[in-house]
Amino acid sequence: MTVSHHGARHVAIIMDGNGRWAKKRLLPRLAGHKAGVEAVRNIVRAAGDLGIEAMTLYAFSSENWKRPEEEVSDLMGLMKRFILSDLDEFAANDVKLKVIGNWRALAPDVVALIDNAIERTAGNKRTTLAVALNYGAQDELVRAATAAAAAGEITVEAIEANLDTADMPPLDLLIRTSGEVRLSNFLLWQSAYAELYFTDKLWPDFKPADLKAALDQFARRDRRYGGL
Ligand code: FPP
Repeated sequence: MTVSHHGARHVAIIMDGNGRWAKKRLLPRLAGHKAGVEAVRNIVRAAGDLGIEAMTLYAFSSENWKRPEEEVSDLMGLMKRFILSDLDEFAANDVKLKVIGNWRALAPDVVALIDNAIERTAGNKRTTLAVALNYGAQDELVRAATAAAAAGEITVEAIEANLDTADMPPLDLLIRTSGEVRLSNFLLWQSAYAELYFTDKLWPDFKPADLKAALDQFARRDRRYGGL
């Protein structure tokens, strides 16, 4: 059953702290990212039950290419495995997969896998899971403004219609884990009126109860959108 007392339709998360989670346990960074994938799984399951229509997760930024080659390839490998292993579960839980960012520039095998997953989940309705891959908000805005200009008019509406998130509900709540307090080039336009929520929990430690706590706080906030 869906319980949406909080009113948040679209929640985005900057999943930060996998590396520190691993370091605390004297484990390699890859172990932290693996634990991060498990957290993704649990949060996506919870999102549907909590009545969230759309969730956008920052999995790989256009700046993450600066990381060591081995970590980049580990992250891509985890992403591929996640899509392959969880496709059936998306079907079972009525989750529609979407990918935002410049993901078509990724390796051909990753692109093919994503295309297939998008196609297979296209009819699902309960929750949209948007994974940001090779995503940077400034890049998204340049692409959106270019498309708007090509169509003849640069207006707020025209830019909005050309964002990667154009078909999603407005962003209500943006969460960042691990104590960092910045947006790191994530959903800059969409955050214009989003509520921001920061927690010290490292991403692998972020549980459905923590999402619930963020939504409870969201429900208590007074959103005025510039009015009184
Ligand atoms: C931040 O931790 C996390 C990332 C850069 C990658 C996030 C990726 C996942 C959770 C796994 C794959 C995602 C999906 C959707 C299956 P960090 O490495 O920056 O941690 P640190 O700041 O503690 O070093």
